[in-house]
Amino acid sequence: MSIKRLLTPVMTGALALAMALPAQARDFRLGLITPPSHKWTQAAVAFADEVKEQSGGEHNISIFPAQQLGNEAQMVQQLQTGALDMAFLTIAEISNRVPDFGALYAPYLVDNIDQAAALLRSDAANDLLNQLPAEAGLVGVGYGMAGMRQVMSRSPAKGPDDLVGKKLRITPFEPLRDFYMATGAAPTPLPLPAVYDALANGQIDAIDMDFDSILIFKFYERADNLLISNHMMFPMVGVVSGRVWKDLSKEDRQLLQASMRKHLDGVIDHFQQQESQQEQQLRALDITIEEAGRETFAAAIDDWEKIWSAKAKSLPNLRQAAADIKSN
Ligand code: BEZ
Repeated sequence: MSIKRLLTPVMTGALALAMALPAQARDFRLGLITPPSHKWTQAAVAFADEVKEQSGGEHNISIFPAQQLGNEAQMVQQLQTGALDMAFLTIAEISNRVPDFGALYAPYLVDNIDQAAALLRSDAANDLLNQLPAEAGLVGVGYGMAGMRQVMSRSPAKGPDDLVGKKLRITPFEPLRDFYMATGAAPTPLPLPAVYDALANGQIDAIDMDFDSILIFKFYERADNLLISNHMMFPMVGVVSGRVWKDLSKEDRQLLQASMRKHLDGVIDHFQQQESQQEQQLRALDITIEEAGRETFAAAIDDWEKIWSAKAKSLPNLRQAAADIKSN
């Protein structure tokens, strides 16, 4: 038999196999800072499962929770070089690199979790994502969120006057740091996984946190005073590395985008639905609870505005969107 006749069936078989596979079977990696028990991580796992199923088993997404790949600043660097494919990130690290995202952290931009959900689904918020490819080398797929921000402290606090000089843990980002500096507290940046020990060993006096994390991590065991202030929303963003994105086929981009958006949106629904139930759970614990609203923080809000109205040009646009939501 001639070599040509021998090779033809082999080549035909190889061609058929290649046509049966998607353009590129891929093994993606997605990093995030939250532990496996957190809703963000559960959403990432559900997203990975769906992509595997919808790609006929060809695409795999491995999830790396709890800072296994480093903190958010390190993950953003990996995304920029293409060493990491995707991440679910707090807007915190994004706002350190693209200050306009600081607008999402304007104190009392929204008053409650329902307004936060509506604002993150608005055009005004989604338009911000268009800046990410050029400014950060990332493709912003969509928003998720955690609950509204509150303050837990080791000694009782009714408002900013009781926080003056206190070492108050913040997620490491500038808009939140500027808010607490304006209250007179001593903001102390610490990533989420380090908070429990820092409270336990007295390194910090208070924390900026959401109901969900207070319950998951049992922070109330180490600080039994809760100031319900609802002073900020806490968006999250699902991103894909720009370097990785440019090499994906149109079909793969559509698959990843649609599935990631669906699961991020499910995170927003989840926090919206559980916020008041979690507040009740905390109220049922043996802890001291106080409440404070926008008026209590008025001076700090004014100071924050002076800094951030210059840095975040989208602030008026977001405020208008928030005002429209509040009036509906
Ligand atoms: C935090 O830094 O407080 C935080 C981060 C991710 C999810 C929830 C809270």
